[in-house]
Amino acid sequence: MEVRKAVLPVAGFGTRFLPATKSSSKEMLPLVDKPLIHYAVEDAINAGINQIIFITGRGKRAIEDYFDISFELEYHLKMQGKDELLKQMREISEMADFVYVRQKEPKGLGHAVLRAKDVVGDEPFAVILADDVIENSKSGTKQLLDVFERYHCSVIGLEQVNPDEVSSYGIVSGVEIEKGVYKLDNFVEKPKKEEAPSNLAIIGRYIFTPSIFRELEKTQAGAKGEIQLTDAIASLSKKEVIYGKLLDGKRFDCGNKLGFLKATVEFALHDKNLKSDFEKYLKEVVKC
Ligand code: UTP
Repeated sequence: MEVRKAVLPVAGFGTRFLPATKSSSKEMLPLVDKPLIHYAVEDAINAGINQIIFITGRGKRAIEDYFDISFELEYHLKMQGKDELLKQMREISEMADFVYVRQKEPKGLGHAVLRAKDVVGDEPFAVILADDVIENSKSGTKQLLDVFERYHCSVIGLEQVNPDEVSSYGIVSGVEIEKGVYKLDNFVEKPKKEEAPSNLAIIGRYIFTPSIFRELEKTQAGAKGEIQLTDAIASLSKKEVIYGKLLDGKRFDCGNKLGFLKATVEFALHDKNLKSDFEKYLKEVVKC
């Protein structure tokens, strides 16, 4: 069955970026000139998905406005003869079909994904976290879809992380059945280094069969009152095979300040209009 829908949870508080995220959304932070959420939507579109389901919360209006037509802005650009910019702005609102579902309280990523149940219905779907930006010619979601099309099971994006970092991720283990593709058998949310089953970390790209919703409904909230997506994946794995795919390309964790700054620098260095001056500037600064 075709994957036509992607769920993009954006209802978190983004506390690691406070105070910037006090009144605006973390997902609207820009890498050079496009907000993180724009890259996430492109990841879906480049995988052939054109229905985007945002799970939003309070204070996330900027995301709705971003993907909508901005009449005043378009009028202004038209009057100024800025036709190319006008075209670019109109293209954003025409990128995909956008649907918004509210998560009234941020009760965890698992709870956010469960909010999409009625809109997704009984079909496989993608989940994309805007925090994880993957720089590659092939979108992260497309890489998972290629595996899904071969095995027709849920597929999770993976990356090998430094053993000192495992406690920040959902960690999995399994048997490598083809290069970079694992049949998974163990799932642990943020384990201690000595208890981690491997260094294979879950990255914010997933394809799920609709059975994940049944598991999410049964998943109990953890100590912090949050329903963990990893717990639901672990219980799904007892009923269905789940695959993991090591994602090709460079991944930036833009959910924390250092990762976001690294991404900003690299995206600026890859921007043809900025590259030369920015590189010169960086060399000057680093010399000091
Ligand atoms: P994070 O774990 O990064 O949480 O969520 P956060 O709240 O955004 O950031 P911090 O940890 O407080 O700094 C991963 C993704 O899941 C969404 C977030 O918006 C983010 O895109 N999310 C998280 C929800 O939509 N709802 C939730 O209840 C929790």
